[in-house]
Amino acid sequence: MNLIDRPRRNRKNPAIRSLVRETTLSVSNLIQPLFLWEKEWSEPIESMPGIMRLSPKDLLQECENLLRWGISAIALFPYIEPKYKDSRGSHGLNPDNILLTAIQAIKKAYPDLIVIADIALDPFTDHGHDGIMNAQGRILNDPTVEMLCKMAIVSAQAGADIVAPSDMMDGRVGAIREALDQAEFEEVSIMSYAAKYASAYYGPFRDAVGSKKDKKFPLDKKTYQMDPSNIREALREIFLDIQEGSDILIIKPAGAYLDVIRAVRDQVLLPLAAYQVSGEYAQICAAARLGWLDYEPIRDESLLAIRRAGADMILTYFAHEIAEANFKTL
Ligand code: PBG
Repeated sequence: MNLIDRPRRNRKNPAIRSLVRETTLSVSNLIQPLFLWEKEWSEPIESMPGIMRLSPKDLLQECENLLRWGISAIALFPYIEPKYKDSRGSHGLNPDNILLTAIQAIKKAYPDLIVIADIALDPFTDHGHDGIMNAQGRILNDPTVEMLCKMAIVSAQAGADIVAPSDMMDGRVGAIREALDQAEFEEVSIMSYAAKYASAYYGPFRDAVGSKKDKKFPLDKKTYQMDPSNIREALREIFLDIQEGSDILIIKPAGAYLDVIRAVRDQVLLPLAAYQVSGEYAQICAAARLGWLDYEPIRDESLLAIRRAGADMILTYFAHEIAEANFKTL
């Protein structure tokens, strides 16, 4: 054949492939979400193989490991004992709660590790919703935002470097920015879940933090989280968060929303994060356990795709093991 263009030339060996590679995955782009609780022992989460609800002591050990392996940021999610929960999530503001005491302990021991405090009421409410619920079962926007502002301040006081509102109430980014600034926390960043979808991929996470209701009454968050059908609406949410003062935008979930990541990347200047959520993690683990997929290549391909779509950083439950393996081959 008389071909001028032979794209295979650029694929003929590993060396040339590495020269022409357009997207890479690096440990420095990964953020590890961690689950914690107040009990003195750690417990595996059944639907998330390899992931534990960590005791305060094991949490500190995990932070030390992650830092040594090159992970620079963690996102914390508390499992709150049912006895502390109420319909308003009041325990979220108690300075002695496990989330705030953990942030304090981590920042004291590892000041260089970036701690991202999730700002939402769901771990603390007895109904499992991210906001305050009225007698008719409606989630109230403005009273919830007031709570979230207070939560952001107590998190900053505990030492959080970044607060991450994950609730999808309207106007919360602007309100939190103002509240933080008034309390002289202008250096604390806001990483906002700008486009968070009402996704079925959050199931294992809800197991992990104990916000799941029984199977007959699945938690329906569709009045605040976004409809999976929509992409223009994601851009609308993104632009609102930018106007309100977000520093880093998050899209969530990641793998099933690569088009959203790309559309946002093409339109905004802010750094963009994507959250590869619990269900995405569980799917890969489950298929690998059955022997139906090869674990490591699938894991890496799933993350590379998220980077290729345009995410600068990825929150992923795989961060720990990727960083550890990378460190050991250095
Ligand atoms: C709620 C919250 C959720 C996740 C992070 N924060 C679940 C939900 O909206 O019910 C899910 C993360 C995951 O699935 O890994 N504030």
